[in-house]
Amino acid sequence: MAETITILGLESSCDDTAAAVVRLTDGRADILSSVVAGQTELHAAYGGVVPELAARAHAEKLDLCVEEALSGAGVALSDLDAVAVTAGPGLIGGVLSGVMCAKGIAAGAGLPLVAVNHLAGHALTPRLTDGLAFPYLMLLVSGGHCQFLLVNGPESFKRLGGTIDDAPGEAFDKVAKLLGLPQPGGPSVESEALRGDPRRFAFPRPLLDREGCDFSFSGLKTALLRARDALIAEKGGLTVQDRADLCAGFQAAVRDVLAEKSRRALAACNAPSFAVAGGVAANRSIRAALKDVAAETGAEFLAPPLALCTDNAAMIAWAGIERYRLGARNGMELSARPRWPLDTSGPALIGSGKKGAKA
Ligand code: KG4
Ligand code: ZN
Repeated sequence: MAETITILGLESSCDDTAAAVVRLTDGRADILSSVVAGQTELHAAYGGVVPELAARAHAEKLDLCVEEALSGAGVALSDLDAVAVTAGPGLIGGVLSGVMCAKGIAAGAGLPLVAVNHLAGHALTPRLTDGLAFPYLMLLVSGGHCQFLLVNGPESFKRLGGTIDDAPGEAFDKVAKLLGLPQPGGPSVESEALRGDPRRFAFPRPLLDREGCDFSFSGLKTALLRARDALIAEKGGLTVQDRADLCAGFQAAVRDVLAEKSRRALAACNAPSFAVAGGVAANRSIRAALKDVAAETGAEFLAPPLALCTDNAAMIAWAGIERYRLGARNGMELSARPRWPLDTSGPALIGSGKKGAKA
């Protein structure tokens, strides 16, 4: 008999409310539906995600997203094997909204509940999209996360390094703000950088002088602020070329740091494949540099499609399937966790990003 598992996934740990249905049939994964309701406009005036507003919006939107995901997939609750939900890490109000919604559905429909770590959702995505075999190295680079994970199994992760302050996407967003460019900052800085000279400003490559695979991006952002202020003091303002050169210099510094640390992480773990996820992986210059690093070591390079690199519920449903197959079931006592490191053997990372606590 064919093994078929169909799971509804819910995601609400940051500023995206999402629901999706994923089905595994004899080893083949199909995303039957994936609905994402973003909150960018809701938080636009505040320069970051406001946790209370986010939580209320999740609570309002979750049931609508679930309805849309079920009807889009053409399945009823009775066709599901389980409900998977992000139970952390993230903004607590949002995670709570998702966990309560999932408990309600599970209790009402008599379905098992499976808790998923949001970072595991990202880390397992290359298995959903490409059936990637374990082990592999994952670099998660977004507005809220920055870490290397050696993925050995659905519940077996080793963190090889991470940021000790800002996440790179957060640094791109802050740089855009400092230069008066629109949010989200990553795409605006990238397009300015295309016309800029990356060598005009000698920005630092933080932590390259230190062993290991940890990152720091907040000093880089301060270096850009100083360079901007020096130009303004000298000439009274920035020219279009100044702005492009600042963006190009900043992007090159982030790229160089991510590439060199990836080289080290690959050498340390000797994994046959290297995958990236997170919004920053959309940056063409960074992506190309990471691909080159993988090629240097002979590792296969994988970058899931952008819609599955950024926050979504298909990755949660998929991670739910992986845990469900291992027999994982959670009860009604499941609680939401603002912090939930994937690798509990490693030292905790410090700092809290624009998009919540880093794990
Ligand atoms: O994964 P994501 O959609 O959301 C979370 O952070 O969870 O990532 C969003 C981040 C933002 O900080 C955005 O500025 C950054 O990814 N980003 C980029 C690019 N596109 C998005 N950063 C650099 N270059 C890009 N092209
Ligand atoms: Zn995420």
